[in-house]
Amino acid sequence: MRRLPPVLFEDGCSRELVSLIRTILAACKEISFRVGQGALSGVLGSTLDENIQGETQKKLDVLSNQLIKDILLESGYVKAIASEEEDYTVAGNPDAKFIVSFDPLDGSSNTDINSLVGTIFSIMEAPEGSDPADPAIFMQPGKNQIAAGYVLYGPSTTLALSTGKGTRIFTLDKTHGSFLLTENFAKIPEDTQEFAINASNQRHWQPAMKDYIADLLAGSEGPRQKNFNMRWIAAMVGDVHRVLCRGGLFTYPADTKNPEKPYKLRLLYEANPMAMLVEQAGGLAHTGETRILDIEPNDIHQRVAVILGSKNEVETCLTYHK
Ligand code: F6P
Ligand code: MN
Repeated sequence: MRRLPPVLFEDGCSRELVSLIRTILAACKEISFRVGQGALSGVLGSTLDENIQGETQKKLDVLSNQLIKDILLESGYVKAIASEEEDYTVAGNPDAKFIVSFDPLDGSSNTDINSLVGTIFSIMEAPEGSDPADPAIFMQPGKNQIAAGYVLYGPSTTLALSTGKGTRIFTLDKTHGSFLLTENFAKIPEDTQEFAINASNQRHWQPAMKDYIADLLAGSEGPRQKNFNMRWIAAMVGDVHRVLCRGGLFTYPADTKNPEKPYKLRLLYEANPMAMLVEQAGGLAHTGETRILDIEPNDIHQRVAVILGSKNEVETCLTYHK
């Protein structure tokens, strides 16, 4: 089976980009080990702190963030980083050309129940001559990403990665510590009978999403004339992985539960990298109003609505939003 670096070189990635990706993956291997140790590693449970977004930080959130942050800043490959667990961007090497946004441990409420979690990352180039301390260097649309990926810490540790030439899946061979290519070009089926949404928010959704989901639930007796199955892992990384493997529609729509926070998922380090992986596998990623990869961000922790997955099903969902 083929190892990650030669595959990336064949795709035309520069030595620097391959080194940066390998640097991120070195931290992910360490996180994979800690997650796998579970209660034995003493890192389950919460800290007493909250991040700037008002979320309680899990011990594994903090540890994963520290591992990725330290290795990236020490590597010299990054001009700056933005992380879910850092209130502000962190400046790196002023001469470096890459910026990295990441969610160190997505789905961290799953850590204490031995369920799926993962690391999501997005790589862009910083504008030439830009100041590493200026957060404006991150205010670029997701279509500028030169690489995006996630590492899923499940029964096996899998990497989904795109450098703009399709989406590939690698599996960590824990005996050698290498990511081996296990699916060359993931292709999301265009049609699906599976969807993922946190249905407990139903009464807070907007009419378009209420109507769409009601029609899915009506099954073969409803306007869609077919039955749908529902899944919810409560870790975007797990739900998106299922969509990449066998299709489906994943959404975290706007809701009115907290008027100050109509959306849940973050653009820079959740929606954008997942949108690139999904589009590169033939799927679609939208907010209901606009293609995710076209959004011009205005804040590193900005949140957006997300509807992604099988092309025809996302398009059907969008017709309810018109
Ligand atoms: O990072 C946010 C996140 O944990 C996603 O990974 C996941 O899809 C979602 O929130 C889960 O939300 P909820 O707690 O509403 O099920
Ligand atoms: Mn997350």
